[in-house]
Amino acid sequence: MSLRTTTEYIEDVSPGSGALPPRAWYASSDAESFSLNGDWRFRLSDTADAEDDSFAAPGYDAGDWAEVPVPGHWVLQGHGSPVYTNHLYPFPVDPPRVPTENPTGDHLRVFDLPGDWPADGDAVLRFDGVESCARVWLNGTELGEFKGSRLPHEFAVGRLLRPAGNVLAVRVHQWSAGSYLEDQDQWWLPGIFRDVTVLHRPAGSVLDFFVHASYDHTTGEGTLRVDSDVDGRVSVPDLGIDIATGEPVTVPVEPWSAETPRLYDGVLATRGERVPLRVGFRTVALSDGLIKVNGRPVLFKGVNRHEWHPERGRALDLATMREDVLLMKRHNINAVRTSHYPPHPAFLGLCDELGLWVIDECDLETHGFTEQGWRDNPVDDDRWTPALLDRAARMVERDKNHPSVVIWSLGNEAGTGRGLTAMAEWIHGRDPSRPVHYEGDPDCRDTDVYSRMYAGHAEVERIGRGLDGGPHRRRRLPLVLCEYGHAMGNGPGGLADYQKLFDTHDRLQGGFVWEWIDHGIAHPGLGYAYGGDFGEELHDGNFVCDGLLFPDRRPSPGLTEYKKVIEPVGITGDGTDGTVRVTNKHDFADLSALAFSWSYEVEGEAVDSGTLPVPALAPGASADVKLPAPPPAAPAGEAHWTVRAVLAAGTPWAPKGHLVAWGQLPAAERRTPYTAATARPVSGDGVIRLGPGVFDARTGALRAIGDIAVRDLRLDVWRATTDNDDGAPWQPDLRYGLLWRRLGLHRMRHRLDAVEAGEDALTVRTRVAPAARDTGLSTVYRWTSDGDRLRLTVGTVPEGDWTVPLPRLGIRFGLSAVDRVEWYGGGPGEAYPDTRTAAVVGRWRSTVEDLQTPYVRPQENGARIDVRWALLGGLRVEGDPAFLLTARRWTTEQLDAATHRSDLVPGETVWVNLDHGQHGIGSQSCGPGPLPRYHLPAEPAEFSFVFSAAAAPTAG
Ligand code: GAL
Repeated sequence: MSLRTTTEYIEDVSPGSGALPPRAWYASSDAESFSLNGDWRFRLSDTADAEDDSFAAPGYDAGDWAEVPVPGHWVLQGHGSPVYTNHLYPFPVDPPRVPTENPTGDHLRVFDLPGDWPADGDAVLRFDGVESCARVWLNGTELGEFKGSRLPHEFAVGRLLRPAGNVLAVRVHQWSAGSYLEDQDQWWLPGIFRDVTVLHRPAGSVLDFFVHASYDHTTGEGTLRVDSDVDGRVSVPDLGIDIATGEPVTVPVEPWSAETPRLYDGVLATRGERVPLRVGFRTVALSDGLIKVNGRPVLFKGVNRHEWHPERGRALDLATMREDVLLMKRHNINAVRTSHYPPHPAFLGLCDELGLWVIDECDLETHGFTEQGWRDNPVDDDRWTPALLDRAARMVERDKNHPSVVIWSLGNEAGTGRGLTAMAEWIHGRDPSRPVHYEGDPDCRDTDVYSRMYAGHAEVERIGRGLDGGPHRRRRLPLVLCEYGHAMGNGPGGLADYQKLFDTHDRLQGGFVWEWIDHGIAHPGLGYAYGGDFGEELHDGNFVCDGLLFPDRRPSPGLTEYKKVIEPVGITGDGTDGTVRVTNKHDFADLSALAFSWSYEVEGEAVDSGTLPVPALAPGASADVKLPAPPPAAPAGEAHWTVRAVLAAGTPWAPKGHLVAWGQLPAAERRTPYTAATARPVSGDGVIRLGPGVFDARTGALRAIGDIAVRDLRLDVWRATTDNDDGAPWQPDLRYGLLWRRLGLHRMRHRLDAVEAGEDALTVRTRVAPAARDTGLSTVYRWTSDGDRLRLTVGTVPEGDWTVPLPRLGIRFGLSAVDRVEWYGGGPGEAYPDTRTAAVVGRWRSTVEDLQTPYVRPQENGARIDVRWALLGGLRVEGDPAFLLTARRWTTEQLDAATHRSDLVPGETVWVNLDHGQHGIGSQSCGPGPLPRYHLPAEPAEFSFVFSAAAAPTAG
């Protein structure tokens, strides 16, 4: 039955044979179609030709085969296991050869045609995505074979279809020549992972068509022309358009933008078919060195999106795709790079409808060749060029009618070479209306934008100021950070500092945070699995969990931070002059969709609130808006104005009242806690008593405050290193996690030097230092009391040669019987010095459990910043100055040792850290570390806490 041997087609560098030419994708038309998604018979072999192809013949009995749902990846369906590598090929690099061990899944589906299936015309069988190489038979006839995992392939099948008992056989190989082009940083997941559909093609039906819908911002008119391989008519009733295909028409229109995604419903009607159109008028142009849409420069506030679902991998359903777009819109994200392959086509329909700028990226990455200095890189080898052009064409033809797609991307991390030039030339010729992007070629030969990943702030600023050299400068290309802000684990830090640069320098047109979602795989024992959890001999661990969403799509603190950093309305002021400055940071929309309100809060409790009339400012405009007089009856205490901008009416992506932007202005300053040192230390029975404090007389260790037992209170400088602390292996130096461990900061010893009970204070002198090093911290704990409250002042002086900042500086201690925590300070979520923009000063409550941020690989997390006071069960702590608060049911050492959430077992004790400071977070898991201003230098420091017994917080 077969035309070529297995090895011949698997290892053929050409894209395949038998498939129809690529064409525009559309979701529905009046032509019949039916889905072949569902349960298929399935047989897995270890090698590509362990079994012959007799299964493809009608009558084959697959009764003893397994069943798998299609779309899906068999390694997530109980057959074999997934493999994660970042850039390393998990097989010998010998292109285009692949290993003999080549998991191969035979798929069988028997189907009848629907009863009303038309007798005339042709039919097409469409695969929207199969990884990585498939060979297809229908009713025993071989249709062909193809590669290009995240691209559609169609076969003409009309002459083969029967009313009943059709046998569709698909042999899928995990590895093929195509795998060399698909070395993206993600799980290797073979399978038929997107839809399989049979489409009726009536005589005279639509083949390919290209909707050209441009917008002239100088006239307010749009021009529509639909080119079609089959002649027909195009109508757009709302615009009174009724034209022949190929004929242009110009009419006044409302333009499409990501902020105002105006779509016009239309129809392309040929003799045999009516295809619905959703037309968005917009013009993308590179002018004055900027990417402009409809005449205005755009600022990308984007994310990189891989397709991911913790159970289904890259087999996403429509609801999940919609959830992604809704979550993006609700977090002020306006752009998405489809890293690193064209997404399921329905995703782009959602971007058109709800409004996102899209960089549509081709399914191409050959990153593993970097290991051999890019020798044999397929993108610089003419034999592979047809496959590259096929990939470019399949993307462009499929997606060209989406107004949301504003930039084509050639692929990711594929080095440089003639193949890329060929792709760029072909794309520029086929679709001159969109710029071309590619990051990997420093010469920007084939691209229309200067794209970088993970450039540090200083370099980005230099580029913004035009102080860079090179071809991109000579050609006046705008800068886009196609990747920045590596969202692995706790972080990314420094987003606000990037945004300031983007807001300041026109040439910086924003960026795309890496990445949208953690690719953790739901695992019964581990919570979420990552690289290495399936016994892979080669893997890159939790580098696959670096998203703004946790695998279950719960937003991480990084996403909350990003939402605040990129909010489209600036609300600022210092609270001194009775006004708030409101700036419209949209590129296209005025502020009429938003309703503004103010509230006046004392110690985090709203005293009064009202609406704030704000003019419908044009994009880029600002106004100083008068605030009301402070409420006359407001109680004394620290006060803030909080101004919020919410949706004035429901939109397709969020309900009325959804918070878009906010700002807080100081109104009255905090009074720092004062305690008169009036009580005297009293010794007896092996203890020293000072006010409510009970101390061990020998060691000076605090045992209790009133009835509350306290254990192991002492200076703490260690935090369970974050992925960003640890840094990526290729980061040359200043990987703080390593430096800290080298210095021994994770194993500090506490030497007791003196316990001094004086007139009005108990003083405990210590030296805190690691074994094997001469560096240390001379640390003095000074306790005083006014009788009711106990004040601790910690003084530390570094000794020796400290060349690194500290991870943290503060105290830690253990409490029992704490469930609930209340605090006044930054919240409601986690925040660190360079991830603190989203922290609202307010009164917050939480359980200890809910204070934890569930990073897939456990690490430092959950700190609340700028805490003025906190209630931990019945213990009240006031900070002088404000502090960072962390409370958890395991120690830092246990957190540090854990590799998965399941390793963290709650104990009896709640371990509390009150930090005077923490080192910033940065983005060094794949980018720059924290900016120096967020370092916690080892230098003399003094800070105080005031403890007292209080009523424990209640639920709510
Ligand atoms: C980039 C790459 C991404 C991802 C990221 C690190 O170099 O383009 O695919 O690997 O680094 O998470």
